[in-house]
Amino acid sequence: MRALKRVAWWSAGAISLALVALLIAYWTSSNACYDRKTAPQGALMKAIVYCDFGSPDVLKVENIEKPTPEEDQVLVRVRAASVNPLDWHYVRGKPYFARLMGMGLRRPKVTRLGVDFAGTVEAVGKNVKRFKPGDDVFGGRTGAFAEYVTVREERAVALKPANVTFEQAASVSVAALTALQGLRDKGQIRPGQKVLINGASGGVGTFAVQIAKSFGAEVTGVCSTRNVDMVRSIGADHVIDYTKEDFTKSEQRYDLIIDNVGNRSLSECRGILTPKGRYVMVGGPSSGWIDPLPRALGALVMSRFVSQDMVMFIAQLNQRDLTILGDLMQAGKVKPVIDRQYKLSEVPKAIGYLEEGHARGKVIVAVE
Ligand SMILES: NC(=O)c1ccc[n+]([C@@H]2O[C@H](COP(=O)([O-])OP(=O)(O)OC[C@H]3O[C@@H](n4cnc5c(N)ncnc54)[C@H](OP(=O)(O)O)[C@@H]3O)[C@@H](O)[C@H]2O)c1
Repeated sequence: MRALKRVAWWSAGAISLALVALLIAYWTSSNACYDRKTAPQGALMKAIVYCDFGSPDVLKVENIEKPTPEEDQVLVRVRAASVNPLDWHYVRGKPYFARLMGMGLRRPKVTRLGVDFAGTVEAVGKNVKRFKPGDDVFGGRTGAFAEYVTVREERAVALKPANVTFEQAASVSVAALTALQGLRDKGQIRPGQKVLINGASGGVGTFAVQIAKSFGAEVTGVCSTRNVDMVRSIGADHVIDYTKEDFTKSEQRYDLIIDNVGNRSLSECRGILTPKGRYVMVGGPSSGWIDPLPRALGALVMSRFVSQDMVMFIAQLNQRDLTILGDLMQAGKVKPVIDRQYKLSEVPKAIGYLEEGHARGKVIVAVE
């Protein structure tokens, strides 16, 4: 009895300490907006900045210091950027558990937004070998909603194929890399396999359909009525209209499912896999607190007990895969689908539109 009491006291003490630490971290969490002591110096550039979590209206265009490339960096004059769901997650500060993982407890730790960019190299650091001023490039770097970004030459930046516009190239980084890595690395796609893409009409989905075709797969895309023709036009062999048919009730069995939506249970998805099939969870429901963690954990646990592989993954931006995607675009095997285009000052609108969840391909931000 006494031992039990002691355990209870120690546990209560530990929990109280953790709560106090969390509260202190919460109230002291700050960012560049609040820590700024002097006005920006030297050359300036326009960039999207946000100081607090909230609706996309918290995003403002500000004049901030234009970056100078370090020895191993290139300075890119951004011509276009594109929006991804991760941008609105960062603006909202959701899921909340991500605030404990470095997003910032009370305020965004990083006050710049946007990842995907395409533009022209304006200057390079003295150790840079692969790029020179005047090169047109595309890639991924935090802070892409701006007139300039700097990126290390060996990181996520690659030469833009000449037959691809800046807007098309800007749509590639996060969405197309996710599709490529989901299909190739996690999905281990092979020619002739039957692949189902749930959410085939969005940013990741439109790339996944085309990349799966380039691997020689037989592709089924799931989308709503208004997108059926578009998904077929980018190469899907079969299209399931989710407003009329539930793909998990199909008699067809698939070798690979790329799930960008996560609106059907894991068991239902497993039910339409071949015995050695793979389920790759790319996106899932986002209620705001811990989603999509429970589904990802569910997939991990289920995988231990069934013959199929069920995995969740987070795409990694890298130069090698950007180059592969550049080659696919140059060869005409992948053509980015662009839904809408906004100006830099309209980034809040662009993010608000994407957050509605019905973008048709990619949403672009043109930077003049
Ligand atoms: N794991 C990673 O590394 C990673 C990387 C990038 C993105 N993601 C996640 O992957 C998901 C997709 O990203 P995204 O860039 O493609 O988003 P997106 O462009 O916003 O996707 C919108 C698309 O989803 C479709 N959709 C909505 N409800 C649907 C349903 N019930 N069934 C089928 N399709 C439906 C919409 O089609 P309709 O208009 O026809 O409904 C729309 O075309 C997001 O959750 C994102 O956070 C994960």
